[in-house]
Amino acid sequence: MNEQAAHAEGREVKREAEASGDRRHRGLQYLAFLKRFSQIARPNSYLEIGTRDGSSLAAFDCDAICVDPVMRPKPAALNRGRTLAFQMTSDRFFREHDVLGIFPGGVDVAFLDGMHRFEFLLRDLINAERCCHARSTVIVHDCFPPDPKLTGRVSAGGAWAGDCVEARADLERAP
Ligand SMILES: C[S@@+](CC[C@H](N)C(=O)[O-])C[C@H]1O[C@@H](n2cnc3c(N)ncnc32)[C@H](O)[C@@H]1O
Repeated sequence: MNEQAAHAEGREVKREAEASGDRRHRGLQYLAFLKRFSQIARPNSYLEIGTRDGSSLAAFDCDAICVDPVMRPKPAALNRGRTLAFQMTSDRFFREHDVLGIFPGGVDVAFLDGMHRFEFLLRDLINAERCCHARSTVIVHDCFPPDPKLTGRVSAGGAWAGDCVEARADLERAP
């Protein structure tokens, strides 16, 4: 199938899903995406904002910096040479620590999945970009919530994309 036909088929699947009220994403589940991305891009350095139990961290096997005020990574997530864990908010981390001192060449990949409010996400993005080089990739979670029920300023518990979607216009304008 050529690219045009693939896009047309994708649009058709999306139309059918919307018509049936099914709001699930149809692409790769995000952890599978991160794993696949890691295998293809083969980064040497990874910066993660929002680590929780380390499920996303586990997708990368290169040296890593991870930041979360409530850090509880499972052992499988620590299976790499160096994992530098900072148990604090990302704002404090970027204020007090020098990423380029740890990764002098800059981070190859950053994944932003911390506090799901757009102003936090924008600050994380601005701060992460300062630690990047020209070919870095910054992956931003929660900007395409499939269901409005997942959104909002306050979490009602369970899956929550916050209002990261509000940051999309700024992200799309970014060079
Ligand atoms: C959705 S979870 C991260 C999940 C993880 N990335 C994964 O995919 O397995 C969001 C995390 O952000 C953390 N968090 C909340 N506020 C934060 C902040 N200001 N800075 C950094 N992390 C924050 C929470 O403690 C929580 O563990």
